[in-house]
Parts: sequence; C-alpha cells; structure tokens
Amino acid sequence: MSRRTFVSGATAIAAGPMLIRLDAPRLPDGLFRLGVASGDPLPGAVVIWTRLAPETGMPDVAVPVHWEVATDERFRRVVASGAKQATADLAHSVHVDVRGLRPGHLYYYRFKAGAQISPVGRTRTAPAETGRPQNLRFAFASCQDYQAGFYSAYAHLAEEDLAFVAFLGDYIYESAPNPNARRTHEGTGEPLDLAQYRNRHAQYKTDPHLRAAHAAFPWIVTFDDHEVDNNWADEIPQDPDLQTPAAFRARRVAAFQAYYEHMPMRRSSLPRGLDMQVYRRFRFGDLATMHVLDTRQYRSDQPATREAALDPALTMTGPEQERWLVNGLRNSGSRWNLLANQVMWAQNDRTAGPAQTFDLDNWDGYRVQRRRLLDHFGSGQVANPIVLTGDRHCTWACDLRTDFDDPSTPVVGAEITGTSITSGGDPDVAAFHRTYDPIMAESPHWRYIDNQRGYVVCDVDRSRTLSSLRLVDTVWAEVAPVRTAAEFVVENGRPGIASVTAAS
Ligand SMILES: [Fe+2]
Repeated sequence: MSRRTFVSGATAIAAGPMLIRLDAPRLPDGLFRLGVASGDPLPGAVVIWTRLAPETGMPDVAVPVHWEVATDERFRRVVASGAKQATADLAHSVHVDVRGLRPGHLYYYRFKAGAQISPVGRTRTAPAETGRPQNLRFAFASCQDYQAGFYSAYAHLAEEDLAFVAFLGDYIYESAPNPNARRTHEGTGEPLDLAQYRNRHAQYKTDPHLRAAHAAFPWIVTFDDHEVDNNWADEIPQDPDLQTPAAFRARRVAAFQAYYEHMPMRRSSLPRGLDMQVYRRFRFGDLATMHVLDTRQYRSDQPATREAALDPALTMTGPEQERWLVNGLRNSGSRWNLLANQVMWAQNDRTAGPAQTFDLDNWDGYRVQRRRLLDHFGSGQVANPIVLTGDRHCTWACDLRTDFDDPSTPVVGAEITGTSITSGGDPDVAAFHRTYDPIMAESPHWRYIDNQRGYVVCDVDRSRTLSSLRLVDTVWAEVAPVRTAAEFVVENGRPGIASVTAAS
C-alpha cells in the first residue's frame, strides 16, 4: 500500500464512527527517531514527551500512543499507563502529564505506537511540598548551536547524577544553513513558518547525545532569543526593516508552537494566540525554589544608548512577571532561591580603561528594573538568591551588587553564567584573556571568567551551594573528555560567591 493510498484510505475509514480506532496500521519505521523526554517535575507529577517523526514524514492521521510509567527499567512494576492520540495539529507530539506518582522518586517511562516501542526514559519527581531534603543536585546548560559543533558535553551530562536539568535558552538557532559549519542546519534559510521551525527542532533532536540527556533526567526549559529570532523583544524582531509587524507576529506564533511541540512542558504552556506561559516555578521541598524567567516575551525593545538604558519605563519581564517574581522570592519558604534566567544580570563592561561599553540586550540595558530587583534581593526578604544565566557563551561567576560601579554598595546575591554547550565553537582562550583580564581587574564583582564549552552542575545542601564548571576539551569532535575546571561556593546566609577554586 502506498502512503497516498494509506492516507486517503484512513480518511475514509475515520468517517465511520465504529472504525475510528485505527490501531496505527503500517506506520512508517523510525517513529521514535527524536527520542523521549520528561520535564516540569512536581512532587507527584511529571510530564513525559515524545513525537512521532519518522524520516519519511507522518501521514495526516491521529495515532494512538500508549505510555507506561514504571518503577523499574524492565517495566515489571508499572504504576501508571494510558493512551493518548498523537495528532497532526501538534506535529504528532505527545505530552502526558503523569499524575499520582510518589514525590522524590525515580521512574522509567516508554511509549508504544503500532508495533514500535520507544527508547526508555528515566525521570524523577520533585520532593514532597512539606519535605526537608538535605540535598539537591542538578545541572544547567544553554546555547546549543548545532552548526557550532558536536554535543560532546551532553554525552557527559547524561552520565551525571542529577535530579533535573535546567535549560536556559537557545535550544535551537534560527540561523540559515552554513555549508562551511561543523554541522549544517537543515532547510534553505532561516525558519519562518511552522513547518520550518518543526524541521529545525527535529534536526536538533536527531543528535544522540542530546537525546541521551533528555532520556536521563527531567528538564525544566525556558527560551531565549534564538528559538524565535536573534534579539527579539516582545513583538519586535531583530530587523524591523525586513520583517513587518504582522509577519513577525506570525513567525513568533509558529516558533512558539514548534517549541511547545518539542519540549516536555505542561499543557499550561500550550501557546494561546500570540502568547505562551513560560515563566513558572518549581519547588524542591523547603530546600530550593527555581523561578523560571521569560525575559523575551514581555520585554521593552533594547535601548539604543547607555543613557536610554536609564529609562525607568524599560522592563525585561513586564510588570506582571515582575510582581510574580518579587512575591515568589519573598514567599518561597525555601532556603535557596534559584533563578533560571537568560541574559546576564551582572554588569559586563566590554572595554578596558575608564570607558565602558555594554551589550544592551543584557540587564545592563534595563538598569532601573535591575536595581529595583537587586534592592529586593538585599531587602532581607529573599533567602539566598542565585541567578543562573545562559546567553553569554562564556562562564562568568559574579557577585551581584546593588550598584556595580560602587564597590561600597552591598553584595546582595550571586550569579553564575554558565558557558554554552556548543555556541561559539572551540574558543581562543588566550585571546579571550587578553581582552577580558584587564577589564576583570577593574570589575571587582567578576570572580571568575572563562570561554570554553560545557555546563554547570549545582550541588545544593542546607549550608552551601557548590557549582562545578564542567568543560569539554573540544566540540569539534563527537566525543571529548570532560573535566571540572572550577568550583564556586555560595554559603547559606552570605550573599555572593564565597569562594572560587580553579583547577590548576
Ligand atoms: Fe546563545
């Protein structure tokens, strides 16, 4: 039976109500090519995900996908199961919000469609709301430009012992295929419509190391700019001269939908119209709360000058999200308040000497709001804030002060900006230090800087948070050794970075 006959046949059969249960006849091979994932862990629940995406494409029919969650890898003790229709309107993605699980437990899950069974994923629920966990270990990562290199970092991340992975943005890059890159993007240009964003996401998930990292832990994801368009701000594209407002809004809708379809997110994040709920919160007993930010969807356009950056009307989060953050930080009841954030909070001068230049896409461009939030950090109402940041394609461990130009102002928190999985490719370490070491000498709030590729593992206990910078030797080979290059300690009750230990 050719695919065309199958598709039209299926449509005809679906018209008869008794025959609707088309139990996935002759589906193409390789349905689970993009792997499995889980995410957004709650004390008794976690979202499990897959997408039926065979290389030859999916017929335009609904396909029942069966799922199972077990406490053992061999599925002898299945504790939850069910079936869900994978439909073309969501690119045959399946998101199951599995409920009724035990808090703080390890589970295994898999899917079945027709005769095909998915790889097995492993996941973990969050500890009980009232729990008093002694320890929480997770990793954060960002910026995985497929064209910049291989995901050698994920091969190691998948082997770590983690409760979850926080991904801080730039999951895909929207750049056009570059035939001279290490690996080349699919398609013929930048993605603009839904089919193109779907193809871009699918290409990223064909990477075996990325799939392994998804299958190993639940992920808590947020986006930054490249999931849509470089440096977009709310309804404003990077290049308003080239994209009309209507065209960019349509592009954003397409990008959001493809993002949801490929991420293990709860139904509450399903895009509605132009919007998608990405800022959200996860609690790990009374030990830690992770506040996940969205600094793209509601932000003011980037200011053009440093003076314009002082406009008090500028916002990175929008007023509603700011209130949500301020109240959530105050009321979390957790020992540690972790922010899953995109662009750098700490002032980041790019010029040595008395002159200063800033990237105004960062919080350096939104200085009044930053000051307001840093004052809140220092108000005595926020327990141990640590900002975890992506975007920079470098590591920057920083003390957060209320005024970075005035070293007499108090340190109110810590920020760890954690490099990139691939973006930037293999770096010129010496050139980086030639540029930035002199600026570091004038920037006492910078405690450690580096420009190599990798990720950060955070080990949180009741007395301190120990963050380990894990670096790979190269992303220009599929496999490369990993090493711990530096460790940053934040102590309970003492804002900022207490100590930096760099490997010699
Ligand atoms: Fe990036």
